[in-house]
Amino acid sequence: MTTPSHKALVPFVSVDNMMRLVHSIGIETMLRDLAEYVEADFKRWELFDKTPRVASHSDVGVIELMPTSDGEAYGFKYVNGHPKNTSEGLQTVTAFGLLADVYTGYPVLFTEMTMLTALRTAATSAMAAKYLAPKGADTMAMIGNGAQSEFQTLAMKAICGLKTVRLFDKDPAATEKCARNLGAFGLNVVRCSSPEEAIEGAQILTTCTADKQNATILTDNMIGAGVHINAIGGDCPGKTELAAGILNRSDVFVEFPPQTRIEGEIQQMPEDFAVTELWEVISGQKQGRRDDKQITLFDSVGFAIEDFSALRYIRDHIKGTEFFIDLDMLADPDDPRDLFGMLQRSDA
Ligand SMILES: NC(=O)c1ccc[n+]([C@@H]2O[C@H](COP(=O)([O-])OP(=O)(O)OC[C@H]3O[C@@H](n4cnc5c(N)ncnc54)[C@H](O)[C@@H]3O)[C@@H](O)[C@H]2O)c1
Repeated sequence: MTTPSHKALVPFVSVDNMMRLVHSIGIETMLRDLAEYVEADFKRWELFDKTPRVASHSDVGVIELMPTSDGEAYGFKYVNGHPKNTSEGLQTVTAFGLLADVYTGYPVLFTEMTMLTALRTAATSAMAAKYLAPKGADTMAMIGNGAQSEFQTLAMKAICGLKTVRLFDKDPAATEKCARNLGAFGLNVVRCSSPEEAIEGAQILTTCTADKQNATILTDNMIGAGVHINAIGGDCPGKTELAAGILNRSDVFVEFPPQTRIEGEIQQMPEDFAVTELWEVISGQKQGRRDDKQITLFDSVGFAIEDFSALRYIRDHIKGTEFFIDLDMLADPDDPRDLFGMLQRSDA
């Protein structure tokens, strides 16, 4: 057996180590920090390579690759979306990702991203709400109480000062699970038995359901003036959560229009439907919320730059910790051109 040189090694963060890292930092602190990393990258948006994610669809789900680069580092995430999975004891969304050095092309981090996707999606939602939700918003309807729901709620608490969450899921067991998990965080948690009940008195409405088809979680007549809608679950062709009428009455904010027009709520609208790019609001070039009557809608699908920010965050925060192991991932022959010789010698 040969001992790999340090050049062969890539830090790897397992699910177990990711969870230990989250606990050591504290989940609310980590959500706030992640939102700052995402916000910093949205402020330098124009610098990044951007492409709609590469999606491979099947009858039951989707598998996607999400690459981007800021010219110094390159990152990608592998992620799936399979709404039928939970009925088979599997998760709807799982992910892993990699960060590499553009100068050498060598990976510098390989990590689980199932936990990290839930954290970065929630941090991004709360960052958007900070700019778009009405002033003083402290109550959120959380419709869809699955894997992402507690993360979404805690990010809104940590970043926007949420005090009350009103839960609804078509499966009461999911609501029970979510309420139980949120019990220790000092929030007022209300279990609701319909979407209509969940949105009562809420200034932020989050939809985070999973279905492989167009659903109408919120109908037009449910939406009054002045709310902020955080639409998370509609993120694939043929998979939406909102009635089209809501989009017509809202100012719609998106991540990357070429991807959102394929995957987001606005897939229901004409190609030239007006949207504002969130990075333009964050960098001060466009207005977010204008007044307290406006309906704002963050049509979130999840974009590669958010994963890049999360990868950067993990790279920066595992340094000097025990929350990773080194993987022998890269062949490192003594003579860089003698890869074959390295193979032959390994059999000696
Ligand atoms: N925008 C993003 O960046 C992003 C990131 C991650 C996940 N997502 C999407 O968010 C959605 C939720 O992901 P998850 O991991 O929490 O999935 P999940 O399967 O764990 O949870 C989804 C929940 O929605 C509920 N639900 C389904 N239809 C409903 C309806 N009509 N009314 C009320 N509840 C309903 C289900 O019972 C389930 O509890 C998925 O569609 C996923 O693709 C988006």
